Amino acid sequence: MVINDFLAADMRKQMQADGYDLLDEFHAASKVGARFIGWDHTGYDFSSRSEAHDFKIANVKRRNGMAPLLLPEPSLVDARLDDLRTRRKSTRRFRRSSVCLRNLGTLLNHGYGFATDDRRSVPSGGGVYPLELYVIALNVTGLPTGTYHYLPHEHALERCGSDDSQPTLAQALDGAFDEGQAGFPAFHIVVTAAFIRNVYKYGLRGYRLCLLEAGHVVHAIILASLALDLGSLPNLNFYDASMDRFLDIDGVTESVLYMCSVGESE
Ligand SMILES: Cc1cc2nc3c(=O)[nH]c(=O)nc-3n(C[C@H](O)[C@H](O)[C@H](O)COP(=O)(O)O)c2cc1C
Repeated sequence: MVINDFLAADMRKQMQADGYDLLDEFHAASKVGARFIGWDHTGYDFSSRSEAHDFKIANVKRRNGMAPLLLPEPSLVDARLDDLRTRRKSTRRFRRSSVCLRNLGTLLNHGYGFATDDRRSVPSGGGVYPLELYVIALNVTGLPTGTYHYLPHEHALERCGSDDSQPTLAQALDGAFDEGQAGFPAFHIVVTAAFIRNVYKYGLRGYRLCLLEAGHVVHAIILASLALDLGSLPNLNFYDASMDRFLDIDGVTESVLYMCSVGESE
């Protein structure tokens, strides 16, 4: 038995001993099969689907009333895919230096913004776009330190009303960036999902879509960072409930999924 099989069998035994086989349950709930076509159970009427309806449920996070800060036009990122592929690696130490607002905006645009007037940079199941991007700005030229929500349609940021004090952030990050052990990223981009936007249309499979789409977003940010000579770290090292509190979201209708830390590499 190869070691991975052994570990999987061991883990499975433990899960069964706990009375759950969460892995199976979790994944089975997101499956679609021959006897289960049409996602009828969702209440979504595919026969009368309309782009207008899809658009209404898409990207519905309301602005919080704070005046949005328009971001500079994204820079043109000119890079060879093959070069990015060979240079890609996770940054383990960030230099203590700032990143300009235009570069931050470029990454947000690549991650979840619009590539043309009506097409986003990344794909989304059914074009629903259930994700939200937040920026925890630590060292961005032209942007006060704080937490912001990205508005893709306006290519703008709105300040969040969250408690964005450094101790609360350090708690949410489990001290991962304390005392400069990993250096000093200029900002974190946090990806959350407003699950209902997908679940409304795709039922429990919508949950799987949210996870997959977060991967598209962070990978686009990683590649664009490299093209701008910035380092990035895909990062799951946070406490979910603390991060949700930090972002002032409820953790149920919207919850944190993923994060990407960005800055100059040492
Ligand atoms: C979903 C995901 C979550 C990750 N979370 C962390 C993390 O919390 N902390 C960390 O140091 N690295 C994290 N990483 C980076 C991986 O450790 C890294 O990609 C792996 O060691 C391979 O190294 P490379 O990216 O330099 O090729 C994460 C990567 C992925 C894809």
